[in-house]
Amino acid sequence: MSSYLIRKTPGDTEWFRHDRFGMFIHFGLYALPARHEWVKSYEKIPEDKYNTYFENFDPDLCDPRAWARAAKAAGMKYAVLTTKHHEGFCLFDTKYTDYNVMNTPYGRDLVREYVDAFRAEGLKIGFYYSLIDWHHPDFPIDIYHPRRDDENAEAQDKDRDMHKYAQYMRNQVEELLTGYGKIDIMWFDFSYGDEDQNKTNPGYHSWMRYGGGKTAAQWEAEELLKLARKLQPGIIIDNRTDLEADLWTPEQFQPSKWVTDRDGNLVTWEACQTFSGSWGYFRDEQTWKSPEMLINLLINTVSIGGNLIMNVGPTGRGYLDYRAEAALKEYAEWMKYNSRSIYGCTMAEPEFKTPQGTRLTQSEDGKRLYIHLQEYPFAFLEMHGLADKIRYAQFLNDASEVPFTIGGSGHFSNFGADSGDDLVVFHLPAVKPHTVVPVIEVLLK
Ligand code: GLC
Repeated sequence: MSSYLIRKTPGDTEWFRHDRFGMFIHFGLYALPARHEWVKSYEKIPEDKYNTYFENFDPDLCDPRAWARAAKAAGMKYAVLTTKHHEGFCLFDTKYTDYNVMNTPYGRDLVREYVDAFRAEGLKIGFYYSLIDWHHPDFPIDIYHPRRDDENAEAQDKDRDMHKYAQYMRNQVEELLTGYGKIDIMWFDFSYGDEDQNKTNPGYHSWMRYGGGKTAAQWEAEELLKLARKLQPGIIIDNRTDLEADLWTPEQFQPSKWVTDRDGNLVTWEACQTFSGSWGYFRDEQTWKSPEMLINLLINTVSIGGNLIMNVGPTGRGYLDYRAEAALKEYAEWMKYNSRSIYGCTMAEPEFKTPQGTRLTQSEDGKRLYIHLQEYPFAFLEMHGLADKIRYAQFLNDASEVPFTIGGSGHFSNFGADSGDDLVVFHLPAVKPHTVVPVIEVLLK
């Protein structure tokens, strides 16, 4: 059994850590401008102009079943959809605002279609819900708000009632957590309470309430979380309400060690990453990740005990564009043959010394060790800490034997700078196996 002790929280995180890999879906009106989901804030777009996207939201090629099939093929086991992003537009049928999908030309509850489709493919269901809301009339104007630099911004802000907005969120969360069956994850986003930092933000004005940001107190986060847990016992909740909950969420960077809470305890965590930089569909973005980078993000994350949720941003017509499809296919291809080193795996026990150019994972039951050859070595791979544990080794992608010798003795004594009784030397073919990152599966005693 893995020896790592992970902080226990109210949510049911065991399945989550086992499954390791999910799909994030960012879909909303911002798919139409197609230049970042923050476009309303970045460009300070006025309400009436942004409304054009609402009036034209008609993703006629939207087929959540196709998204679900692609996710499943990629080896993803759960998904999280933006039921509402910062723009405030709701993808679900809600009675608390007209600013929802039912009143667009599309006219169907997209959250329902998503839930049905992903459930049918056997994936677990998550809802992203933005705490930030750039449409709601009671959301106080702050450093990110599109109206922050309006001449009369302060006057516009004056009568906004944060308490009413917090109630609105609870009402909607209740709709989401009662109307769609079992929901496995609730992903709130996000808090920005550091007043010192907020003051240096170009969007800051001295009249802004709460130091230009918002934290747990303004979201009334304790109540919000209590409600969510009452309606969906076992639901996994992220930490972005500014309260520590079940899930820690490093974004768009690769942690180099297991994420910890404030007291240094290991926690359940999930890196969220994009294919190309933005979360919403961004037509002209050029920073699409290479196949190696995509696969390595997953490996690196699991090798330090985390999950990866990889994002897609459907186009304004609702389909996943060719670049997203290609990226998902990379995962599908790799996971088809190598997923055993991901599901049910975690950081390898510290006794196993990671050879240069590789990353390790180990099955939770401790019986198998996985060496991911991120840099394919020539002829030999040397590893310490394994000699008295190794029983057999094979490539994971085709179960072909990987012969090994132990110690620096015999006719292998010359090749390595290294030797010793605890040295295992794997003998590798000159030609790299036909998979982006080959994996050696070691069966342990
Ligand atoms: C953010 C962003 C955002 C994205 C996300 C996902 O901080 O504001 O657009 O939804 O988190 O992690």
